[in-house]
Amino acid sequence: MRLIRLLAAALVLAFATPVAAQPAETFSLLTPTGQRLTSAELLGKPYAIFFGFTHCPEVCPTTLAELQAVLDEVGPAADKLSIFFVTVDPERDGGPELANYLDAFGPRFVGLHGSAEETAAAARAFRVVYNKVPLEGGGYTMEHTAAVFLVDPRGRLADRLSYQMPLAAQVQRLKRFLAGS
Ligand code: NI
Repeated sequence: MRLIRLLAAALVLAFATPVAAQPAETFSLLTPTGQRLTSAELLGKPYAIFFGFTHCPEVCPTTLAELQAVLDEVGPAADKLSIFFVTVDPERDGGPELANYLDAFGPRFVGLHGSAEETAAAARAFRVVYNKVPLEGGGYTMEHTAAVFLVDPRGRLADRLSYQMPLAAQVQRLKRFLAGS
């Protein structure tokens, strides 16, 4: 009986809290206009952050389009949310490339980029993994973790929207996050 209860508790935990609340460690990156932005400056306000690259064939465009749809659905309650897209491909994605790319998806996405070391540190803070993959015929693409991380005003990772989670579920998650932020 005790074991079953423990298992049940573990399952509830696994599904009710998809990520444990934990401090999102410091990141320090550049905005499209070249201004430095650190996670410390964001204390006091909620934000969403995800990692990708402008040459991404599918995951990033899908994530951006879905996130914009989720924001539209949530409405004014989401106005206080800042939204950051961190490139995992700083070789090709500078400020102008990020700004041009993100403008196509909506006015609220702010691209962030940094050196290879700064990018790696930011990714580590969110346990994001990315890899450069050579393409046949030259060039390369990037593999990367696909999830939108929701950071609360205290700088803690409070929830995440997983790739291809149904839109209604994403809306619900974001509403719940904003209500508690
Ligand atoms: Ni991508």
